[in-house]
Amino acid sequence: RKVLSVASEMVPLVKTGGLADVVGALPGALAGQGWEMRVMIPAYRGVLKSLKASKAVWKSPDLYGAPARLMQGKVGGTVVLALDAPHLYDRAGGPYSDGGVDFVDNAERFAALCHVAAEVARAGIAGWKPEIVHAHDWQTGLVPWYLRDSGIPTVITVHNIAFQGRFAREKLAAMALKPADFERDGVEFWGDISTLKAGLMAADAITTVSPRYADELMRPVFGMGLEGVIQLRARDLHGILNGIDTTIWDPEVDPNIQPFSSGSLTGKEKNRNALEGEFNLDVKGPLAILISRLTDQKGIDLIAPAIEPFLAAGGGLAVLGSGDRWAEAAMLDLATRYPGQVGVKIGYDETLSHRMFGGGDAVLVPSRFEPCGLTQLYGLRYGCLPVVAAVGGLADTVIGASPATQAAKAATGVVFHPVDALALQQGLLKLVALYEDRAQWRAMVRRAMKQDWGWAQSASRYGALYDTLISNAD
Ligand code: ADP
Ligand code: GLC
Repeated sequence: RKVLSVASEMVPLVKTGGLADVVGALPGALAGQGWEMRVMIPAYRGVLKSLKASKAVWKSPDLYGAPARLMQGKVGGTVVLALDAPHLYDRAGGPYSDGGVDFVDNAERFAALCHVAAEVARAGIAGWKPEIVHAHDWQTGLVPWYLRDSGIPTVITVHNIAFQGRFAREKLAAMALKPADFERDGVEFWGDISTLKAGLMAADAITTVSPRYADELMRPVFGMGLEGVIQLRARDLHGILNGIDTTIWDPEVDPNIQPFSSGSLTGKEKNRNALEGEFNLDVKGPLAILISRLTDQKGIDLIAPAIEPFLAAGGGLAVLGSGDRWAEAAMLDLATRYPGQVGVKIGYDETLSHRMFGGGDAVLVPSRFEPCGLTQLYGLRYGCLPVVAAVGGLADTVIGASPATQAAKAATGVVFHPVDALALQQGLLKLVALYEDRAQWRAMVRRAMKQDWGWAQSASRYGALYDTLISNAD
């Protein structure tokens, strides 16, 4: 059975966040369960170079003003269709912006991707025709919309409802939308176009990346204006937890660290020493790490007002991230105020992130909302216990230490609530207390490391959903 997955990011080709990890890992897991997957993404600058044995399988003389073609090639085991349209995608910067400024033609750039995906779905290419199309987030929200009368079933996954693909009404024609599409039942959203809303209205099924986030989306605080649409589609909404790529994230064979396992934690101690060296730290108590986009979503502003008692009790913090200027400044300021205890690297560095999970004792994730979150899962697997806010996927994956969960030998981290500085402060002090009871700490670390966060189970839930939609469409 054949699936076309359409997205704007995919590991290892292009990544700004967890979306790329998921789009990169899910096809491999589904392939193992008998699904024939192809992933379509834009050929941003550099993407074609990383595609193995690529060949053109589709061409257009005029896609939004200039020629375009689809290059089919392989990355890892996955077949990728890269949309090569240099006028739209071959430019400096990230997938959506350059130097923090969104590209002015994002409406056209992602409408073009959706347009080609819909055409491929309808007509097939090179003898291959998908039976179902899977779109991800606002960038591909127009895929279900363009395919709504095609008889081809579609799924859209909401990775983060905060990003809604909002564009001015004036962009309608540029996005191949008709005035009639601009309605309450259509792409209209508070006077603008929302490509995510279009996808939510038109897809046969909506999934989101954790069961808890699926519930949260019904409420205004989390639904962010789209809660009404989600309520309307509640019968077709499924919360399917993300997995992790356990070949990339495996402390027993990770080439970036001294390997270790739940049975032998010596390597972990060496990794911690190396990490302290790398961040110029000298820490007696637990060494916490933070690896994150530095934005409001991630609760970065809660850290400075919460951290002092933790540091006074001997804790340390190593930060890797980039994002909003205020948040970067807040982190750098902490490093200046607490030399030897707080170290900060501004930037994006995949291999350093592996060394941090390998050496850290705890990973902080104080998010205000978190659809799933992946760093807590990497942390669990690397015995770097999560300290998380009780929201979304964080609440679904971490069992907070309490007298009851410890008596049941179930705790795997610290869960705090509500999401404010005081609760985070108390969570961090709880972390110190847990860490000081060495036998109990090691038991928690081993328990966390033994959990299975691989994709197999969630992939089979996606597979079951695809099966249902395909047979309903027959
Ligand atoms: P989100 O997608 O909202 O940013 P996730 O937790 O789902 O949150 O995914 C974030 C991904 O990006 C993880 O794989 C994390 O390790 C990675 N990441 C975030 N910031 C950095 C950084 N500065 N350097 C390296 N990896 C990072
Ligand atoms: C989004 C969410 C994050 C989730 C990721 C992958 O970026 O913010 O919580 O893990 O998508 O689904």
